[in-house]
Amino acid sequence: MIICHKREELRRVLDGFRLKKQSLGFVPTMGALHQGHLSLIDQGLQENALMVVSIFVNPTQFDNATDLIKYPRTFEHDIELLQSFSERIVVYAPTVEDIYGDTIAAKAFDFDGLEYQMEGKFRKGHFDGVGTVVKRLFEIVQPDYAYFGEKDFQQLRIIQKLVEKYDLNVQVVGCDIFRAGDGLAMSSRNQRLSEAHRAAAPFIYQTLIAAKLRFGTENAKEVTEWVGAQFDKQALLELEYFIIADENTLLPLETKENTKSYRAFIAVFAGEIRLIDNIALN
Ligand code: PAJ
Repeated sequence: MIICHKREELRRVLDGFRLKKQSLGFVPTMGALHQGHLSLIDQGLQENALMVVSIFVNPTQFDNATDLIKYPRTFEHDIELLQSFSERIVVYAPTVEDIYGDTIAAKAFDFDGLEYQMEGKFRKGHFDGVGTVVKRLFEIVQPDYAYFGEKDFQQLRIIQKLVEKYDLNVQVVGCDIFRAGDGLAMSSRNQRLSEAHRAAAPFIYQTLIAAKLRFGTENAKEVTEWVGAQFDKQALLELEYFIIADENTLLPLETKENTKSYRAFIAVFAGEIRLIDNIALN
């Protein structure tokens, strides 16, 4: 498996590949790879001749310095995992300098308001950081297809908006959320959960499923209040937000319309670890 740390190296590898006129897929990650990431790479491998997987803990998308420092870095393990997964993977693991030069700063984006909802409210500047790094990575890798998980649904919508606004030549593919057997959405943060918090965390998805059922007969306000009451009874989990929103605009639902698709979004603290999840409602 080829591992490139500099964009020049990657460019050389990909120049040869591009001559063959075959399809190139891309999965950007921050490493600490798990089955959720692998499910994206797997889908990409089925649809492309070669996959680039980037591993880069992007400093500009962390609003919280401790979170950046504590973000798990498991490079050796990531490489072993990818090596045993497929031969058709090229890893791009750049240095901060390779991406940002000597100015580590995010650009300011206008994502038509998608950036002000949910995660945008609770993590200031986060989506400017994501937009900056993904746009840069797209310029460097120039993939035909790029795969993003619905786990971070707002991020997926923002990347689609980025591609639309800048008329970028890449197809964004949204992929299903990969869950552990007990329903907890796979996340690099899960490994930081205490045993007790890990045992409590599947409650998040169980509540989303119950909320989906309720959404059939109750309005958004009733479902939201019900979810709040369920978390009040949970000693180990603290609800940050539960929001039912339009899947397209991400605006909170006011009056249900039959033609629109809605999704419930949730953020929960399990001790110090912040977990997010979401579910399609209709
Ligand atoms: P990271 O959290 O490493 O996630 C990389 C990709 O894997 C994202 O598209 C994310 O939605 C997807 N993913 C994570 N867990 C998943 C799961 N359980 N099921 C399905 N997909 C899952 O998201 C980022 O990194 C960064 O913001 C990045 C896009 C790389 C920009 O820095």
